[in-house]
Amino acid sequence: MNIQWYPGHMTKAKRMMQENIKLVDVIIELIDARVPISSQNPDMANITNNKPRIIVFNKVDLADADKTKEFVKWYEQQGVSVVLVNSKTGKGINQVINKAYELCKEKIERNKKRGLINKPIRAMVAGIPNVGKSTFINKLVGKASAKTGNKPGVTKGKQWIKLKKDMELLDTPGILWPKFEDQQVGINLALIGSIKDEILDVGELSLILIEYLKENYYARLADRYNLEDYSELEPIEVLEKIAKNRNLVKSGNELDINKASIILLDEYRNGKLGKITIETVGL
Ligand code: G4P
Repeated sequence: MNIQWYPGHMTKAKRMMQENIKLVDVIIELIDARVPISSQNPDMANITNNKPRIIVFNKVDLADADKTKEFVKWYEQQGVSVVLVNSKTGKGINQVINKAYELCKEKIERNKKRGLINKPIRAMVAGIPNVGKSTFINKLVGKASAKTGNKPGVTKGKQWIKLKKDMELLDTPGILWPKFEDQQVGINLALIGSIKDEILDVGELSLILIEYLKENYYARLADRYNLEDYSELEPIEVLEKIAKNRNLVKSGNELDINKASIILLDEYRNGKLGKITIETVGL
């Protein structure tokens, strides 16, 4: 399954980020804790001109905690600052602020020497579509100031947001990169909902998810959809069982496999199948 999605508004957004990078002291890059490698934009170091960067593992509440630990170690071994965040509850957000100040320590000192006390530091918030940028910013600001949406690509335009604690944030639109060299990256991003569903074959995608869950989180699928023993079944047969157990039928009493695919993907994305990470360190 070869997925590619790089619409024109992302090229524009990338240009906007490059134009504004001079004004920014630190980058807060949100990635999705369920796919910590695939959701990290390989263009980011280039776009941000190697400015200090904090990698925020967002949606950590939806990821497998043991795997998260391994990924954090992997990032830290490369000298990257990592913070785990649940933007819905706000857990971890203060650590992001503290880390941002820490990374800007020299600049703050320099400003002080020049008599510029309390000059705000400026952070750019970046990340792929649907990673939770608006939710993160809203939590940070303490009120609903950035627009949120459940469709990838909703956050658009340029927006500076002032925080109380001597910090300003530049919100940026969700962007991807021109080509996924590894097809699995496109699949992983589609599974978490960062690729617009309209361009996807949701049937095929759900079969890939079933295969992965069967191998790595067998009981979660069984429990959620009352599957009992499905170890000998092909993914398509599992999907049929899900449709049957959920009573998903079309006119003529035919099983509605498409609806089963949509429900499975939706329930995975919303965490109803539990904490599931779909990448493994080193693979
Ligand atoms: P974006 O600006 O990067 O495009 O993302 P946005 O904040 O709109 O968030 C996309 C979806 O991810 C939203 O769900 C949001 O609630 C959810 N989300 C963001 N951060 C977290 C997190 O840390 N944990 C969990 N579990 N979910 C998170 P939605 O379905 O669109 O909206 P809602 O029904 O949750 O309000």
